Amino acid sequence: MKKLLSTAAIAVMMACAGGNAMADAKNPKIGFSIDDLRLERWARDRDYFVAAAEQQGAKVFVQSADASEQRQIAQIENLISRGVDVLVIVPYNATVLTNAVREAKKAKIKVISYDRLILNADIDAYISFDNNMVGQLQAQGVLAVKPKGNFYLLGGAPTDSNAKMLREGQLKVLQPLIDKGDVKVVGKQWVKDWSPSEAMSIVENALTANGNKIDAVVASNDATAGGAIQALASQKLDGKVAVSGQDSDLAAVKRVIAGTQTLTVYKPLKLIASEAAKLSVQLVRGEKPAFNAKYNNGFKEVDSVFLKPVALTKANIDVVIKDGFYTQAQLAAK
Ligand code: GAL
Repeated sequence: MKKLLSTAAIAVMMACAGGNAMADAKNPKIGFSIDDLRLERWARDRDYFVAAAEQQGAKVFVQSADASEQRQIAQIENLISRGVDVLVIVPYNATVLTNAVREAKKAKIKVISYDRLILNADIDAYISFDNNMVGQLQAQGVLAVKPKGNFYLLGGAPTDSNAKMLREGQLKVLQPLIDKGDVKVVGKQWVKDWSPSEAMSIVENALTANGNKIDAVVASNDATAGGAIQALASQKLDGKVAVSGQDSDLAAVKRVIAGTQTLTVYKPLKLIASEAAKLSVQLVRGEKPAFNAKYNNGFKEVDSVFLKPVALTKANIDVVIKDGFYTQAQLAAK
């Protein structure tokens, strides 16, 4: 019987053992499951990712869950049944995708965690910016203008593992000053779905509770910073209270220029998107990607790529122009 196996049959068997039996290494199919395309940055991630993947011969199917974990799970199941070779996922809820990832792996589909880490699941890779570093930059940025005083910690979505990594980075910088008594944390809260309106009402309440005596709001991204600054503006405190952010959203960069937001963090999205596209194709083709870290997601030490974030203040605003992220005209427009 064994003798009857042709060389071609053996080659097919070996290919099956090594990866997705259906994988088309030349033109891989990628499923890109994004938490929420309604937020500015993710639309850019999508555009850069699709362009980079298509350049490598891949076809991309994009889905947005719009902040619903049920919808994201259903969309991932749909992408699995469509026969994608690799799933690239920006999870809405870090802790609920264990089964969906298991289904993907059963179907020999590679799984990449994009920007946000999927916890407790057998993922193949994780690519992100160094989120602890982002948190440190946020704290350092507000301290540069408010080295002492009452600080409010405005965290990200409690469902997002990045929110915790950011908080760890912020506290790494703040804790010695808290211990010294220079910084007093007058309150802290996570913001559901990174929602600006939720952030606004949290900061409104914090201002009331502290008789407006808040010197800095360590906001974890630009959406929540925007909400915080609206709350500050209604007390005429915008521009007086230091506020951090992250993403270099257009409105946020304009606020930095106007002086109502102290800093944002610039994460070159073209870089993460094109590196992730490369990684996706490499995994399907059985090539060895260049990882630069390992990160424990509760299931295993995940092969990871961490990219470097940049603090963006009024002083170095031209970074986003030089990088082609915005044109001068976009920043100048009212
Ligand atoms: C985080 C991400 C940030 C921000 C936020 C809201 O996970 O790292 O860049 O966009 O989500 O979508």
